[in-house]
Amino acid sequence: MKTFYITTAIDYANGSPHLGHAYEKVLSDIIARHRRLSGDDVFFLTGLDEHGQKVQQSAARQGVEPQAFCDGVAVQFQQLCADLGISNDDFIRTTQPRHKAVVSDILQKIFDQGEIYKADYQGFYSTRQEQFLRETDKVNGKWPELFGEVVEITESNYFFKLSAYQDWLIDHIKTHEDFIFPRFRAKQVLEFLKEPLNDLCISRPKERLAWGIELPFDKDFVTYVWFDALVNYVTGAGYGTDGFLQKWPADFHVIGKDILVPPHAVYWPIMLKAAGIEIPKSLLVHGWWNISGEKMSKTLGNIVDPFELIGRFGPDPLRYFFAREMTVGQDSDFSPDQFLTRYTDDLGNDLGNLVSRLLNMGGRYTEQKVPEASVEEDPEKSLKAAWEGTADKVLAHYEDFAFHRGLEEVFAFIRKINAYAEQRAPWKLAKSDDPADRAALETSLATMAESLRLATVLLVPVIPQVAARIFDLLGAEAVDAYEGKLAWGNSLAGQPLGDKTILFPRPQPQE
Ligand code: ME8
Ligand code: MG
Repeated sequence: MKTFYITTAIDYANGSPHLGHAYEKVLSDIIARHRRLSGDDVFFLTGLDEHGQKVQQSAARQGVEPQAFCDGVAVQFQQLCADLGISNDDFIRTTQPRHKAVVSDILQKIFDQGEIYKADYQGFYSTRQEQFLRETDKVNGKWPELFGEVVEITESNYFFKLSAYQDWLIDHIKTHEDFIFPRFRAKQVLEFLKEPLNDLCISRPKERLAWGIELPFDKDFVTYVWFDALVNYVTGAGYGTDGFLQKWPADFHVIGKDILVPPHAVYWPIMLKAAGIEIPKSLLVHGWWNISGEKMSKTLGNIVDPFELIGRFGPDPLRYFFAREMTVGQDSDFSPDQFLTRYTDDLGNDLGNLVSRLLNMGGRYTEQKVPEASVEEDPEKSLKAAWEGTADKVLAHYEDFAFHRGLEEVFAFIRKINAYAEQRAPWKLAKSDDPADRAALETSLATMAESLRLATVLLVPVIPQVAARIFDLLGAEAVDAYEGKLAWGNSLAGQPLGDKTILFPRPQPQE
């Protein structure tokens, strides 16, 4: 079985991680975990994009060597992954020797084929996007804000011939519905491809930019940005080693919409095609987290610090919020109020209360054990009926990256468990000496425990740490596959229940 290979974009090392970076890692992690739980062998790569002018400038501003600067940034990004519970199998840094060797190999190969040539270039350049621009990039005669400062430059450089592959790429996109998700973004790419492709400048003279990977055929130049960064995906899969084709082609490159056209949808497939490497199966393109409609970015400075949110609430509330609030592919607005509402309502009132209620009653009425379910009356029947089909629906949503819809279903079911508890009111049954009431009491706690276990199985990819904690509190086994875990049974009878626990404490007011 081929490995399911999923990657994130590699983040620019020119500043600290922000919420947009955190989102992309969480989205990819949820998919990776979902696929592992579904039985796939998964390889999940994330990492850091360390070369380029901006990094060189940031390092110079701090008066340190670029490598030392990157080492410091890498610690932060790796810490972010750890703090968010990201299950990446590898973390690639473009300054690693393994990566430089692959970039060098691929460049040499394409150069030897005659598809890279040297020429003088004169034109417009955006330092912020590290991208050459063309007149058609202007909007109403002006360079859009996105490009920051645009300068006109003339220099000698190496170019990669893209146009030979233009028709092939157009055809590929038209005939491979799955190549770009969501599909509407493919139109944008095809629109871009209506214009003849300019050849891609892939080098910088060392005298102007030293912080890149030396061209194997000309020591006076480095390659930088896209010819460097995109190649990380094949380096990470072990290009040039025996295991490469076990992972490659990638199943999904998860990226933000700003780096689809042209880098991932045009340069990357063409680079691969020219190098004789299969192209990835799919690009999964997410939208932006905005703050009051403006993109959150290092350059704009309107950044929400993910470490602060994780520090206050732990990783899972943020993971839940990301998955519940964003329709994958669209933009979303981040507001602290919305975050707190999801935290308090869904996690606290729906899920957290169910857990603490069950543990509390288990401690008081059933010697801190999950009792036996011995009766099945209307309340149990209707809760079981509500579970019927839930798992299939939720997993189908997950398959379609509709995590918000899947979670909506799971939480609708959790609310039904709470309604069931209200209806059975075990705390009233506990006051009776009637054996029938005792049987109903035990049944109700057993039913709550089993249904909570089932709902929690579906939450594992999204809130893995909280889910593990709930399984532990229920005396349930840890879950590393959906298989065999989604059928209603009596699996918990006799298991020890944990002490009463508050999973989502009320947020403390901040000073
Ligand atoms: O583009 N909301 O790096 P980067 C959602 N190094 N996603 C966001 C976001 C936001 N507000 N801001 C950024 C680069 N992102 C290159 C990639 S890949 C071979 C090289 C996403 O640090 C952005 O869309 O600017 C991208 O996918 C990722 O974060 C890294 O952005
Ligand atoms: Mg960016």
